[in-house]
Amino acid sequence: MGRIYNATWGRGFSALYDRGLKATEDAGLREMRTELLAEARGRVVELGAGTGANLELYPQAVEELVLVEPDPHMSKRLRPRLANSGRPASVVEAPAEQLPLDADSFDTAVVTLVLCTVPDPVATLAEITRVLRPGGHLLFIEHVRAEKPSLARWQDRLERPWRFLADGCHCNRDTLAMITASRLDVESVAHDSLPKAPPLVEPLIRGSAVLAG
Ligand SMILES: C[S@@+](CC[C@H](N)C(=O)[O-])C[C@H]1O[C@@H](n2cnc3c(N)ncnc32)[C@H](O)[C@@H]1O
Repeated sequence: MGRIYNATWGRGFSALYDRGLKATEDAGLREMRTELLAEARGRVVELGAGTGANLELYPQAVEELVLVEPDPHMSKRLRPRLANSGRPASVVEAPAEQLPLDADSFDTAVVTLVLCTVPDPVATLAEITRVLRPGGHLLFIEHVRAEKPSLARWQDRLERPWRFLADGCHCNRDTLAMITASRLDVESVAHDSLPKAPPLVEPLIRGSAVLAG
């Protein structure tokens, strides 16, 4: 495998991440996260946990949390936030495409704004289906390729400069098609908008998928 995580200006991006996303969080993203994570149960693995935006939002039904984050600049911010949360959880510095985690060992996997950024989303989904128990769920919030052809064309045209600016984020991925093509069955999906976001990354999906038992 080539690079294990996409990062064009890692340290600066991680330093600005929470401030850059604040207006979006306040305008509705935090509420979407809370609603999604209310479904998390048992042993949970979160991929690309970033600075830990989801940490305080997990419900009591979560028994154990494993936070996967390969970017050392991000995990440097994640670790103190985790320590302050008092939550029993561990941080694993590894790429989502090669998880050093046992097969069939998690009840829930979580990705929020991550399948846009991992270098290989298909391999990531394969790893998710490997580590989930049969009947386990993937919970997702992802910005995606636009359904509107004119916006999708702009996403294709501006994919490269956007990827550079946004630390490896691909604005034009058809993530729902990739989830559907994996071993997961989509149980629910809402087509929504990322609040206060540039049009290129506004189209959003949020929902859950199950690994057939
Ligand atoms: C846009 S941020 C999202 C952070 C967080 N999930 C959130 O909701 O705010 C994308 C995250 O994916 C991480 N990432 C990049 N490549 C990855 C990989 N191969 N495996 C796992 N995470 C990766 C980045 O380091 C970054 O933390």
